[in-house]
Amino acid sequence: MQLTVDLRSDTVTKPTPGMLEAMWSAKVGDDVFGEDETVNELEQKVAAIFGMEAGLFCPSGTMTNQIAIKCFTQPLDELIADQTAHVYRYEGGGIAFNSGVSTRLLNGYRGIITAEMIEPEINAENIHYPHTSLVVLENTVNKGGGSCYSLHDIKPIATLCQTKNLKLHLDGARIFNALTHTGDKAADYGRYFNGISVCLSKGLGAPVGSVLLADAETIKYARRIRKVLGGGMRQAGFLAAAGIYALDHQVERLKIDHAHARILADELRPLPWVSSVIPVETNIVLFDTVEPASAILAKLAAQGIKAVDTAKHRIRLVTHLDVHAEQIEHVVKVLRSI
Ligand SMILES: Cc1ncc(COP(=O)(O)O)c(C=O)c1O
Repeated sequence: MQLTVDLRSDTVTKPTPGMLEAMWSAKVGDDVFGEDETVNELEQKVAAIFGMEAGLFCPSGTMTNQIAIKCFTQPLDELIADQTAHVYRYEGGGIAFNSGVSTRLLNGYRGIITAEMIEPEINAENIHYPHTSLVVLENTVNKGGGSCYSLHDIKPIATLCQTKNLKLHLDGARIFNALTHTGDKAADYGRYFNGISVCLSKGLGAPVGSVLLADAETIKYARRIRKVLGGGMRQAGFLAAAGIYALDHQVERLKIDHAHARILADELRPLPWVSSVIPVETNIVLFDTVEPASAILAKLAAQGIKAVDTAKHRIRLVTHLDVHAEQIEHVVKVLRSI
């Protein structure tokens, strides 16, 4: 039987037996009444991990990001982000729709921006200009090929934001991948950010959910916005239990995904049909192909391997907990045979 390997995204994982068991036995209540003890536990747990005051469990990373932007801006404001930012490119224009805010895009290196790049883009007080009120960082950067900020990179940005009275939000869809790579401590993050989105359903393998972290006052308002968006969930503890399980059992193993990504990158580099491989930092491999990516994807698909193209000549492979060593071996064999 042919092995199948799904390298399209780390969102394709299925709950593990241990996770299903935790979900099955969760204690639940009506979370819109604040009575779901498992949701409350998850929110407090994630807040404590990152040194933040409070958390809000939401159905998706998109919702946590969009609620954060709503909380930290007023209509007619502007936020600053890298031009690859998920909040701008892949959240359906939600910044303008939900918050009435414009976006100033910077041209970072693999999605990583610096305080020096941000400072000149902060608008002066003048009625011609939108009021700059927020900076959004992404860690890891999806479109940058899983590139990471370290806290060393973040500190000067946080200092600039404090000096200029801007809020700082982190799209931490893959924050645990970044922590695995940099060795930074999660608990130190709370000092630098006003808001953090922590996703449970990417590398961590939960079926659904992200937690927005902020101070208690902001989370009180965020809870209101979540309700307006239709994100108030009832017996959500079954899902929160999956998140708690993921945090307890599926963070440590992210280093395996990173090692698998490095194996794939090392295999790809010398191949004649590969023109370049973006250096791998975490679980995402981006590489450019000599012939159109669609032709390579078809050859991979014929061997049971699913991947996606992110440009005409660029392919993305993402490793995750449902990709095991024997599947990586299969992918390596197929790559060599193309
Ligand atoms: C960097 C980043 N932020 C946010 C999201 C949005 O997460 P969701 O799909 O849960 O809305 C994603 C999804 O892939 C992502 O890669």
